[in-house]
Amino acid sequence: MTLLLWLSSWNNISVLGIFLTVFTILVDFMKRRKNWSRYPPGPVSLPFVGTMPFVNYNNPHLSFEKFRKKFGNIFSLQNCWTNVVVLNGYKTVKEALVNKSEDFADRPYLPIYEHLGYGHKSEGVIIARYGRAWKELRKFSLTTLRNFGMGKKSLEERVSEEAGFLCSAISSEGDRPFNPRILVNNAICNVICNITYGERFDYGDETFKKLLTLFENSLHEEVGFLPQLLNVVPILLRIPGLPQKIFRCQKEYINFVEKLVYMHKKTWNPAYTRDFTDAFLKEMAKGKEAEENGFNKSNLTLVTSDLLVAGSETTSTTLRWALLFMLLYPEIQSKVHKEIDKVIGRNRPPTMADQVNMPYTNAVIHEVQRCGDIVPMGVPHMTYRDTELQGFFIPKGTTIITNLTSVLKDETVWKKPKEFYPEHFLNENGQFVRPEAFLPFSAGRRACLGEQLAKMELFIFFTTLMQKFTFVIPEGQPRPREDSYFAFTNSPHPYQLRAVPR
Ligand code: HEM
Repeated sequence: MTLLLWLSSWNNISVLGIFLTVFTILVDFMKRRKNWSRYPPGPVSLPFVGTMPFVNYNNPHLSFEKFRKKFGNIFSLQNCWTNVVVLNGYKTVKEALVNKSEDFADRPYLPIYEHLGYGHKSEGVIIARYGRAWKELRKFSLTTLRNFGMGKKSLEERVSEEAGFLCSAISSEGDRPFNPRILVNNAICNVICNITYGERFDYGDETFKKLLTLFENSLHEEVGFLPQLLNVVPILLRIPGLPQKIFRCQKEYINFVEKLVYMHKKTWNPAYTRDFTDAFLKEMAKGKEAEENGFNKSNLTLVTSDLLVAGSETTSTTLRWALLFMLLYPEIQSKVHKEIDKVIGRNRPPTMADQVNMPYTNAVIHEVQRCGDIVPMGVPHMTYRDTELQGFFIPKGTTIITNLTSVLKDETVWKKPKEFYPEHFLNENGQFVRPEAFLPFSAGRRACLGEQLAKMELFIFFTTLMQKFTFVIPEGQPRPREDSYFAFTNSPHPYQLRAVPR
């Protein structure tokens, strides 16, 4: 009798088990099934995990190159149940981001940022969904950055002043070989801190050092398989303590920004706008309509932190690439020196007005950005509506990866895509030209908001440094590596240099 009961309950459990298994497989199948006949091709999608096992998330460009050879410029992936389409090559990326700008203007929702305060009413700018709040915040950020030219000190003066501080710090290294990373990060971060919070830190400042370390570690926390998995299976983020453990530095960084904002609010005087944060507070004070347009307390922290994140690491990494290329190609460095001596001389600080008379230096800076390829995979987009691209159908809500590496190194556009060759940006008369495929800042509605500022920083910092120093590989040290390592941005491997005063 007991045996019969046990058998029947065992039977029930097995039936339930079989039912649940079949049900789950069916749901998974339905979720992964593509009903569209012209959807881009891609690797086979496995149950539950999709194509995730086939992608090397530590070096996605390597996997993408392989898929591109097999499936063409537009191929699809599947992160568990999330549809992803990767766009490659200048023609494809331009057609999507410029010709069909609005179709590709949305961003995917990224649950891994929820624990930092990102939510439906506070999305900052970078990862904000395409809509009213994003439009208002982007417009506000652009105008406010532009208007800083109207304050006591123009933006250019601030950048130039900081370049001077950087030169002094480098001078005090004397004859010693040193890694320029920390000093360059300090200087670039100071420019953006100055604009957003009216703060500039001394290079040795302990708080500043901490902020920069948090920055760097925050980027590392976003790389690899796990963050991708958490974005597509957000239920895992409910495991108590998990997000805090995995994204510890990001949380600490946001706490740091919150403190800066809080200190600011305490000293705010509506009659006098000191910086970006003050301008935002003024907007918030306008009441309910402003609040609905995204000007709320959480967004104050998130938008200013977005500017800091987006504006520091990218620009300082570019400058580190510039110094590295000067070490590796002394003959190019000496041509830059000659042009600076001819146009600016050794004493007066460089200004943006000099740029037009310095085609070679300008070409070198552009080639640094092309070769350095700082944001290789761009920032993910999402289709805002059903759309078509080169005969393929891409449904609304598909995550779009713009493979900027494939644009900046597009073999159909660049003469020597894998080499450092400033002549890419010079015509036969030695005049500066800018090929259309130069898209390190991406393009279209979501193109980099800080492009103008970044260009100014790169020109002023680079020419000021080159005016004052010759950079050389320290004696007895091997030639630094020219390849990069990926952690959302492409950075040079650590290297040392010696700055010889000119
Ligand atoms: C060399 C320096 C820089 C590079 C290479 C760079 C590159 C990029 C790229 C590739 C994107 C993604 C565009 C897209 O989604 O299609 C982006 C977005 C963005 N960048 Fe930059 N950036 C740089 C400097 C800056 C600076 C200095 C700031 C701030 C002042 C900044 C603020 C932003 C913001 C806010 C976005 C998001 C725009 C949006 O979603 O509407 N960037 N940047």
